[in-house]
Parts: sequence; structure tokens; C-alpha cells
Amino acid sequence: MLSVVTLISGSGSNLQALLKACDNPLYPAKMLAVGSDKAASGLFHAEEYGVPSFVVEPHRFSTKEQWAEVLASNINHLNPDLIVLAGFMRILPTNFVDQFYPKVINLHPSLLPKFPGAHAVRDALAAGEKTTGCTLHVVDAGVDTGPIIDFRQVPVESTDDEHSLHEKIKTEERAMLVEAVRSIAEGKIDLEEIGGN
Ligand code: GAR
Repeated sequence: MLSVVTLISGSGSNLQALLKACDNPLYPAKMLAVGSDKAASGLFHAEEYGVPSFVVEPHRFSTKEQWAEVLASNINHLNPDLIVLAGFMRILPTNFVDQFYPKVINLHPSLLPKFPGAHAVRDALAAGEKTTGCTLHVVDAGVDTGPIIDFRQVPVESTDDEHSLHEKIKTEERAMLVEAVRSIAEGKIDLEEIGGN
């Protein structure tokens, strides 16, 4: 059974999909806890599934590294096999990334390496892309630069705005995440190999 900690900052629809999957006794992963950098609305989903949650807010620390150290110690205490960033909107400093690499994976709403950063859907629309999508990748020290695990394409319709396009992307993200976590648990995806270790 693969043990997972998920970090979120937002509404947590991807978290909800993973919690639902983990609730099925036939699914080979278990959610140990959900963490956030703020009182995110998505933490409600953890409560719904009886999964503990924790919040570590950056503004309570004088440096980003101190914040990341406390976030890491919350996670280390649980000793998960995998850490999923599902809409976690903070860049993790190297003291965090280095100690967990390649066990931290991140969902991103574009076809990386195109449109990294916090406004990927808006940026793809502004660039006039006809196809965009989502990417699941191993987190390294860069911003959305780590080795790619999987991706899904989503066509951009002329009628799409940022919200409608993001919703379509999130539908693909949820399916991709649930499937990828299963494959990691079953050894069909080897993060050590993808991460180059
Ligand atoms: C997802 O689309 C995820 O890819 C994105 O935030 C959304 C969270 O949705 N992450 C990033 O943009 C990270 N750069 P959710 O809270 O409904 O799961």
C-alpha cells in the first residue's frame, strides 16, 4: 500500500478525486494526511474522508527555508512514500525539494515545458494555443521544470475563457492523477528512474 501526503492551496478537486480513489479498498494507495499553506477551502475534503490535515503558513516564519523545514517535519513525521502537490501554489525551496526528491510530484495545468508558473491557463489562452492540457511531473529545484511523468491534451475552443478551459483541464488532471498514483503504487511508474536516480 503506497502511503501519500497531499499538499493543496485551493479548492482541492484533485485532492477530492484522490481521496475518493483511496477510499476504495481495491485502490493501492492510502492518504495519510493533507497539508496546506493556508486555511484552504479544499481542506474540507480531508475532513469529509476522516483524513487529518495540517496548515503551515509562510508568514509565520522569517525565512522561506524555516517555513519549508517545518512543513517537511510535519511530513517526515508521517513518513509517506509519496507527496502530491495538487494545486499547492508555493515554490518549495531546495532544503525541502532535496530531502524528498524524487518523491514529490506536482500537477500543472499546461503542457510543460510550455507555460510554467501560476497563470498557466491564462497564459495558454493569451498565446492563442489550439491545444493545451496538464502535466504531472517530479518536483525539482526549478519552477515546473522537473522530469515529466505523464500529460493529457485538452483542445482549446474559441468559446473558452480561463474558467471553462481550466475546468476541462482539471477533469483530465483528476483522471491522470488517480491513474498515475495507482501506477506508482503498482511499480509501473518508477519515480527513482524518472528522476534519474
Ligand atoms: C490544478 O489545475 C493544478 O494543476 C493547479 O491548480 C489547480 C488546483 O485545482 N496547479 C498549479 O497551477 C500549480 N502551478 P484543485 O484545487 O481544484 O485541485
